[in-house]
Amino acid sequence: MTAERQNISAANAERFAETIAGIIDQGAIAVSLSLGHRTGLFDTMADMAPAGSLEIATAAGLAERYVREWLAVMVTGRVVDYDPETSCYHLPADRAACLTRGAPLGNLAVYAQHVALMGGVQDRTIACFETGEGTDYVDYPCFHQIMAEDSAQTVAEALFDHVLPLAGGIEDRLADGIEVLDAGCGRGGALIEMAKRYPNSSFTGYDLCGDAIGWARAAARRLGLGNVNFEAKDLTGFAEQERFDFITSFDAIHDQKDPEGLIHGLRASLKPGGTYLVQDIGGSSRLENNLDFPMASLLYAISLTHCTPVSIGQGGEGLGTMWGWETAEAMLSDAGFATVERHVLPHDPLNVWFVARA
Ligand SMILES: C[S@@+](CC[C@H](N)C(=O)[O-])C[C@H]1O[C@@H](n2cnc3c(N)ncnc32)[C@H](O)[C@@H]1O
Repeated sequence: MTAERQNISAANAERFAETIAGIIDQGAIAVSLSLGHRTGLFDTMADMAPAGSLEIATAAGLAERYVREWLAVMVTGRVVDYDPETSCYHLPADRAACLTRGAPLGNLAVYAQHVALMGGVQDRTIACFETGEGTDYVDYPCFHQIMAEDSAQTVAEALFDHVLPLAGGIEDRLADGIEVLDAGCGRGGALIEMAKRYPNSSFTGYDLCGDAIGWARAAARRLGLGNVNFEAKDLTGFAEQERFDFITSFDAIHDQKDPEGLIHGLRASLKPGGTYLVQDIGGSSRLENNLDFPMASLLYAISLTHCTPVSIGQGGEGLGTMWGWETAEAMLSDAGFATVERHVLPHDPLNVWFVARA
């Protein structure tokens, strides 16, 4: 045993052990927040006066015994209030305000799903530690559903008020009619919103995953959109010379096989005067700068369990979620864009936005 281990401060060690116990407890609450979101329990409870577990379970269409146990997690986690006199549970409106679909503060329970997912792939992640190999998107059940809900809040719902205005003048060009690509479009929520708003423009969405593309196509079909086309495509080595006026990528560069190559390919795919709008994770490339970055541990853990292994699984370098805005900015500059602007949007503190002009 090292001298350092023999001479520890018992008080410091006890304090730290309490911190760790608290972290484990909070982690259990996070997984249960995900359950509350996926089962619709938060949405159900937000519309109810204080009620017993049977009434809540009935309203949610769920089994009472499980709802009661979940409620116990929520009560001890101080998410739900409990009145022992009446055995009634209540989700106060000021807590529902960040836990329900369409919530005014954004639905934070959506992000809790990432915690549940990373727990679910623990064995697969351990295999990655042991072999150095990567994973495949099929290893992550519900990933595209979670991602679509996540980006609906940061991108699709903010598109017209916050996102497109970053690329000054693009709204007028979209209204006139231009060619648009969303690279790594996932389930295509952002592109569908643009296609609805701008019928004179043509929209293309490419993504590696056929299941996400199938979902996007079905959504476009349901809406009767004739100006949007989704295609399953591996963007490794991608370039469609000077085809597009406007290219977007939303949280879709760092987990590619070859992020730098893709940025070069997207630059080549822009017509002269075209614009590339990129959202990606806004941490720094330097670990020491991220100690106070919001939800940095969550982001590194998503990187560890998803973004890094899916890149390695494609034969890529595994750049990681926290590749950092410095690396992103340098790659954009190296790709030959005439100008590169960096922005942070108040509704989306975890991400950085770049506007790069050809
Ligand atoms: C974090 S998700 C973001 C999805 C979508 N842009 C959104 O905001 O919801 C990253 C996306 O990049 C896609 N992707 C990863 N590697 C790819 C590749 N080599 N070619 C095309 N798409 C890829 C994934 O399938 C995934 O949908």
